[in-house]
Amino acid sequence: MNIVDIIIKKREGNQLSNEEIAYFVKGVADGSLPDYQISAFLMAAFLKQMDAEETACLTMEMAQSGSMFDFSQVEGFKADKHSTGGVADTTTLILAPLVASTGVPVIKMSGRGLGFSGGTIDKLESIPGFDVNVSEKEAIEFAQNSNIVLMSQTDNLTPADKKLYALRDVTGTVDSIPLIAASIMSKKIAAGADGIVLDVKCGSGAFMQDLASAKTLASIMVEMGRHIGRKVTAVISGMDQPLGMNIGNSLEVIEAIEVLKGNVEGDLLEISLTLGAHMLLMAQRVESIEQGKYLLQHHIKNGMGLEKFRELLVQQGGNPAIIDDYSLLPLSTSKKTVFAQREGYLNKMNTALIGRASLETGAGRAYKEQPLDFGAGIIMKKRLGDFVKEGEPLAEIFASSDEKCTNAASYLQQAITIGEEKEPLPPLILKII
Ligand code: URA
Repeated sequence: MNIVDIIIKKREGNQLSNEEIAYFVKGVADGSLPDYQISAFLMAAFLKQMDAEETACLTMEMAQSGSMFDFSQVEGFKADKHSTGGVADTTTLILAPLVASTGVPVIKMSGRGLGFSGGTIDKLESIPGFDVNVSEKEAIEFAQNSNIVLMSQTDNLTPADKKLYALRDVTGTVDSIPLIAASIMSKKIAAGADGIVLDVKCGSGAFMQDLASAKTLASIMVEMGRHIGRKVTAVISGMDQPLGMNIGNSLEVIEAIEVLKGNVEGDLLEISLTLGAHMLLMAQRVESIEQGKYLLQHHIKNGMGLEKFRELLVQQGGNPAIIDDYSLLPLSTSKKTVFAQREGYLNKMNTALIGRASLETGAGRAYKEQPLDFGAGIIMKKRLGDFVKEGEPLAEIFASSDEKCTNAASYLQQAITIGEEKEPLPPLILKII
């Protein structure tokens, strides 16, 4: 077999055989293929697409390119969750302890943020002492003791995806539905969960900007789950404004704790309850989504979710005192408030630009190795549909310098559109597949 023939075959829009895809993935994982040929393959696949059969084969080959985790020693149905990436999307820190507190084990491997989208691992690392590096053996022990593990993807989890994602990031081939589906599902399959709830984000702050492409991506991943015998549900949810009010690592940890304390309502809570309820339904812990949401809400009221979060912190070396004293978390010292420049209704938020503003504060990464400022970020003061007076605060920015605050403020001003007439609000949950 020859890689040039495979690239040309895809370039001409033909279906690749399983053997050809396996040959490509093996060459990616063992380092025998040079970056330029991998990149050429990725561009051909981006432009000519891959059909369902090719995507399923690519996924399984990528999943098997490294360790396949086995958590069968942990009793019970292991439910996992994955978001395709958004802004102020802190749902994992809320639903993982809530779901685990009902008796359903959650062993979740998460990633770091890149571009406009934040990452759970970065948020956890903003907690002093919290160790995200957990081995398979430790994960089993932790899950047996507490039902919850939040860990970084290990080096040997889908090495082919690591290489491919890094090259996609610099070759303009990230937003390809088959490549995203294979990237996400290969990691979830290798990570060993029995069932996966996918939060497919759709809107101005997501890879999928319209409902049709979000549905296509969701359907491919759900179908793939069916083929390989894992339960998969996809919730397509709106990303036309930041999900929560806080953007940035320690700021999002604070908002998640506030939700667990029962002090915050709104979209972030609603999505966390919906995704969590689907995890409980999959695990047959409840019989309906309504019952699942009710149970999770009950575990906010009785404090069991917050206690599970505390247990998670203690287990993985994080300082549990942050729960009662947010000043123990990092917070950048330069501050700037962004004010409304006119009166009217907040009609649009370009969420990718808000993500870009967060990147300017130092809370996000423009490239993979970029160090983060855990205490940087933005607190949004308004949501879509709100009426604002001229000069009212729209957002508060935190960064390590005034210059960073000013750069972030200019992106935020561009991102927000205020109009005279109130426009209809976009739906929060668009579809469940
Ligand atoms: N998240 C992933 O894990 N992979 C992608 O390709 C896009 C989002």
